[in-house]
Amino acid sequence: LGAASLSFAQANWPTKPITLVVPFAAGGPTDVVARTLGASMTKSLGQTIVVENKLGAGGTVAAAAVARGNPDGYTFFIHHNGMATAPALYRKLSYDPLKDFEYVSQAVDVPMTLLARKDFPANNFQELQAYLKANASKINLANAGLGAVSQLCGLMLQHALGVKFTEVPFQGTAPAMNALLGGQVDILCDQTTQTIPQIKAGSVKFYGVTTKNRIKVMPDAPTLHEQGLKDFEVVVWHGIYAPKGTPKPILDKMNGAIRAALKDPAVVQKMTELGAEIVPDSKLTSEGLHSWLQSEINKWGPAIKASGKFAD
Ligand code: MLT
Repeated sequence: LGAASLSFAQANWPTKPITLVVPFAAGGPTDVVARTLGASMTKSLGQTIVVENKLGAGGTVAAAAVARGNPDGYTFFIHHNGMATAPALYRKLSYDPLKDFEYVSQAVDVPMTLLARKDFPANNFQELQAYLKANASKINLANAGLGAVSQLCGLMLQHALGVKFTEVPFQGTAPAMNALLGGQVDILCDQTTQTIPQIKAGSVKFYGVTTKNRIKVMPDAPTLHEQGLKDFEVVVWHGIYAPKGTPKPILDKMNGAIRAALKDPAVVQKMTELGAEIVPDSKLTSEGLHSWLQSEINKWGPAIKASGKFAD
């Protein structure tokens, strides 16, 4: 395209549906956040946000595809902490999280919850710890693959208890939750955006939340930290990215649409019900996301490498 038609394309953006790539299965936590924001942004942008679930390898398949994606302003990507943990978990990663993307905004923070299948023998966290320690080799821990927050949380739990479980990877925690509900796996650490309805329905056993403080939506639910796993903390944060080279005017408009969605009462209500917290305005910037990502890489990298957990 010539310079004139390029700037015309940017000034009129969006003129067709926009793809938002989700790196995990439909119906799961990341997908719920993407579709909730997408529905609101569809209204404000006047074009449909189409969610594309691109699965595999704990989110790294999607990240690699977006890094190589068309920077025409019609591909965006939502990912969580996995963007920061993948470089330590994978010996070979085809992309650099800090260099190979455009950085649009953060969005919401989500707590995690520790669950077991409904008929699991332990009835509280003290019993759970004793049972897991005594039976570690028999325990099946579900997760969404290396790079998933369910995997990160499970890794920290095993480290804290000094045990090793059998990890059973799925392509998202939506199928992992189905396996837990079906009794095919024993435990799962997963985000409130998916687990609150199951906890309320009593279809799983619930032992605590992974935040340092109790959460507003379930004030009676104890933290793992207060129950003895000192300083145990996993908070899931989200970033929205685009392929490197996506024009700045489009990134700015997308940033505006995200900010508008996070103020939409329907979005606020749904996020609040699911335990997700809308981040402060200071995190809703390109620079804010990039420097946060850098700090998260610095935080998790050494701890993960020390755990000796790698994929080739
Ligand atoms: C999902 O959407 O399935 C989750 O975010 C996966 C995970 O990271 O545990």
